[in-house]
Amino acid sequence: MYIIAVAGTGYVGLVAGVCFAEIGHQVTCVDIDENKVNLMKKGISPIYEADLGDLMQKNYAAGKIDYTTDYRSAYKNADAIFIGVGTPEQSDGSADLSYIATVARQIAETIENDCLVVVKSTVPVGTNDKVEQFIKDFLVNDVKVEVASNPEFLAQGSAVHDTLHAARIIIGTESKWAEEMLMKIYQPFNLPIVSVNRRSAEMIKYAANDFLALKISYMNDIANLCESVGADIQDVARGMSFDERIGSKFLNAGIGYGGSCFPKDTKALEYLARQDGYELRTIKAAIGVNKDQKTMLYKKACRRLITFNGLKVAVLGLTFKPGTDDLREAPSLENVPLLLEQGADIYAYDPVGADNFKNKYPAGKNSRGSITYVDKPEQALEGANVCFIFTEWGEIKAVEPGTYKEQMRTPLVYDGRNIYELADMNEAWVEYYSIGRPFIKTSKEFSIAISEVAAIKC
Ligand code: UDX
Repeated sequence: MYIIAVAGTGYVGLVAGVCFAEIGHQVTCVDIDENKVNLMKKGISPIYEADLGDLMQKNYAAGKIDYTTDYRSAYKNADAIFIGVGTPEQSDGSADLSYIATVARQIAETIENDCLVVVKSTVPVGTNDKVEQFIKDFLVNDVKVEVASNPEFLAQGSAVHDTLHAARIIIGTESKWAEEMLMKIYQPFNLPIVSVNRRSAEMIKYAANDFLALKISYMNDIANLCESVGADIQDVARGMSFDERIGSKFLNAGIGYGGSCFPKDTKALEYLARQDGYELRTIKAAIGVNKDQKTMLYKKACRRLITFNGLKVAVLGLTFKPGTDDLREAPSLENVPLLLEQGADIYAYDPVGADNFKNKYPAGKNSRGSITYVDKPEQALEGANVCFIFTEWGEIKAVEPGTYKEQMRTPLVYDGRNIYELADMNEAWVEYYSIGRPFIKTSKEFSIAISEVAAIKC
């Protein structure tokens, strides 16, 4: 059992801290936000994440985890301090390391015992060397301190599961002491451990995330081509997936990747390469494809309709993916402002993300249009002229094809997640556009109805 402090209680820090407590270590999580700390002490998770609240309550009650704003008491005698603070993207694509620097300085000024500092945050290659030097430069007491890299691969919505059952643990160290200690900390997880040097560990994180982003953008690129040549991306992906070298995961074409990692990490690696005078052409292409993909459906709809002005537009799904309330880089954030500018009256549904979205787009009149939040997908669809699907929540997938025909004034659906079978939408008489698949155009009457509505209202 080790005494562990964790700096930062976002996705990375809090989940790591809770999982370390769960496997038997003594953990203190540090955050600067007093309200957040008080909530966490009550077992209330500041993030929407399956199983996290239960584990927080259980381990807090058992005295295995505590939360504090007092970093001195947490760091002073810790065997290891894990840094899980944010490294947000700056306007030039580089990572902002100021939170890491603040924590590093606090560590240097407070530790009283030999201590391993472990960077979990995603940082540009070479940062761990600098963090170690920085801590040593500011060190107050005569103790041994070393920095190790231990990047995190959890996905939002399944963060606890991904941590406890990770495919692998990556540790990047520069000494036997650091390597052995990290190995021992992770031993109870009983997972494969890949031990490399610090720079390779830092690079593994970017290389893995960017590869997945590249895979998605590649499928989106092929999907767009499928549409023009009359192929079906889902059949193409299925055919590809039997090749073990390709694999079956992350082949889903859609409305572009979002979230806190892929957009940020692709830009950060591209920036890193650029600083070194190298052009990372594959990743640049992935970023470009993703940017265009986010508004692909909107552009399709613009080609189909005269205007959005005065149309009732159902928006199903606001978060960047299901299982989270996170809106970062979500396709909805690209499309909703475009629709509002065009005068659409939006009826938005999301089972979890609506409150966060309201902070950016309050209910009521907005730009030339308006936005109303509803509690059920059917309420958004009632009397709607057009529907956009941006997130594949179970609640949205559960909407029967026939419901679009029954509820909407004109059943015209743009699905960014390919959640319906073409045959089912065809049978339900829904005019259905998705990604990388042939579109289903229903009877002529529907097209006339849509044009009339648009013409009358604008
Ligand atoms: C990702 C990585 O999976 C994780 O290992 C890393 O640590 C952080 O980044 P996350 O961003 O939480 O996790 O979600 P993920 O499930 O990977 O999805 C990212 C985005 O890609 C979502 O917008 C999702 O909709 C999109 N995606 C994913 C696709 O468009 N197609 C796919 O086949 C898979």
